[in-house]
Amino acid sequence: MRSPRRAMHRVRTVRALRAALAPWRARGESVALVPTMGAIHDGHLSLVRRARASADRVVATIFVNPLQFGPTEDFARYPRPVRRDRALFAAAGVDLLWEPTIAEIYPPGDRTRVRVSTLTDTLEGRVRPGHFEGVTTVVMRLLHAVQPDVLWLGQKDAQQAAVLERMCADLLVPVRVRRAPTVRDRDGLALSSRNAYLGAAERAQAVALWRGLQAARARLAAGERSAARVVAAVRGVLRQHPLVREDYVAVVDAATLEPLRTVRGRVLVAVAARVGSARLIDNLQWSAR
Ligand code: PAJ
Repeated sequence: MRSPRRAMHRVRTVRALRAALAPWRARGESVALVPTMGAIHDGHLSLVRRARASADRVVATIFVNPLQFGPTEDFARYPRPVRRDRALFAAAGVDLLWEPTIAEIYPPGDRTRVRVSTLTDTLEGRVRPGHFEGVTTVVMRLLHAVQPDVLWLGQKDAQQAAVLERMCADLLVPVRVRRAPTVRDRDGLALSSRNAYLGAAERAQAVALWRGLQAARARLAAGERSAARVVAAVRGVLRQHPLVREDYVAVVDAATLEPLRTVRGRVLVAVAARVGSARLIDNLQWSAR
């Protein structure tokens, strides 16, 4: 049986990572991976809890990946509360925390990129060119280094999860990819490291994304099948919040992420907006019968 308070191991290099993993592998223990960029919140910790239930050992990573940030984005000011993050991960039962340096992930002379087509052209991919190539390139490297049995991702970033599931299937990565539901604050705002950028008035209005999705849910539950009218319902809510500026509202097929005119099968209502200096995203999954 697992002892609940096993000390968390912490490594920086791939070499030290492999040395820490070797005895577990030798004993036939399974490994789950939870990749993060740090600024840990309950959404990340829910992934750790699920990871613990899914494997003998949990490896978490903290790496603010420069490759997935655009030139005008928030790489430099992305929150890095390292000590707090370590304490939260240790208390949640992470066995091994890997905090690679940039040079460890992108060795000198690095020329290799991983790109998933089509799925990355819409939604976040359209607004943030190059973003998903950064995500797939780093996660492929994390997977190669850790070689986990299970990879845990959050539904909060539904397009990211879809892209990474596709990548693992296409590149024959021997890993099971699992998604965990979105963890929310009391008022419904999806937890995100970027919520830290919100001032008090902005924080109060940021709940518009969730409220908009709730309006979409109500329409869908009432039988609405016009994607345009579902989008209009979300926009109606966003417009009541002057500090919230829409980036996009879309109804797409949950698997292909293709835009829909008519709601059919499993769909995703996706929303992105700027609130003050924060860019926030959220989504709702819905199955139409
Ligand atoms: P990050 O934003 O730190 O998120 C790490 C993981 O936590 C992702 O799988 C994300 O979907 C999940 N997550 C974030 N907020 C959540 C919430 N409120 N509820 C449930 N899960 C949540 O996503 C990234 O980092 C990076 O792109 C990464 C995959 C680590 C590659 O750099």
